[in-house]
Amino acid sequence: MTQEQWSAVDHYLGALLAPPDAALDAALEATVAAGMPAISVSPLQGKLLQLLARTVQARRILELGTLGGYSAIWLARALPPGGRLITLEANPDHAAVARANLERAGLADVAEVRVGPALATLPALAAQGPPWFDLVFLDADKANLAAYFRWARALTRQGGLIIADNVVRKGAVIDATSVDPNIQGVRALTAALAADAGVLATVLQTVGSKGYDGLALALVTGAMLPPPER
Ligand code: SAH
Ligand code: DHB
Ligand code: MG
Repeated sequence: MTQEQWSAVDHYLGALLAPPDAALDAALEATVAAGMPAISVSPLQGKLLQLLARTVQARRILELGTLGGYSAIWLARALPPGGRLITLEANPDHAAVARANLERAGLADVAEVRVGPALATLPALAAQGPPWFDLVFLDADKANLAAYFRWARALTRQGGLIIADNVVRKGAVIDATSVDPNIQGVRALTAALAADAGVLATVLQTVGSKGYDGLALALVTGAMLPPPER
């Protein structure tokens, strides 16, 4: 099996199930034009996020790692009237592109981009109190994934869903001796998932136009946890 094959199948299925869409296509074009990396979720992955948000009947969604807002558009479109998405982005240039893309998608009043390192902007969300989030998508830097998961456990309602992107990383996740902080981050996340009796968690290995990677899925079955100490 080759990358060429994975991409061909992704394009075939994507054309059927995630066909061209003016706002999504424009968001990707603007992301590339701004010189940002081509690491947005794929169209079929975006649709999976949307499907999962609908499955938990999400009214409030939190995303870590906005980039150009491509995954945010997929997720925000799953919301019912009055629903809300907050997305956290460290890079102000990325945030500006994302805001323009969300506005073009007609989501300016639904989606809010908060600028700053997520660990600096998460405490305010916890301090704000309920209503808590129904879905949290972790897609910022991977080194802090375990810390982000702890915050997600303090912000996601019972019955809600926590999703983390890029947790297989071409199989590198099995390298316990890796000095790559991204690998240690995804390993710390999978350990935290395994140790948490309050989530029903699994990891789905994926191939496609983005190569070989994986998504962690954790349904919150137990009580919410208190936020991490600062
Ligand atoms: N979710 C996007 C892709 C996100 S790429 C999509 O699929 O469309 C990862 C993003 O996380 C980048 O924009 C990067 O600037 C941002 N990021 C990196 N470190 C961060 C941090 N500590 N806090 C918040 N965002 C961060
Ligand atoms: C990277 C980050 C992502 O969120 C992704 O989906 C793919 C790659 C990266 O930092 O390399
Ligand atoms: Mg990602």
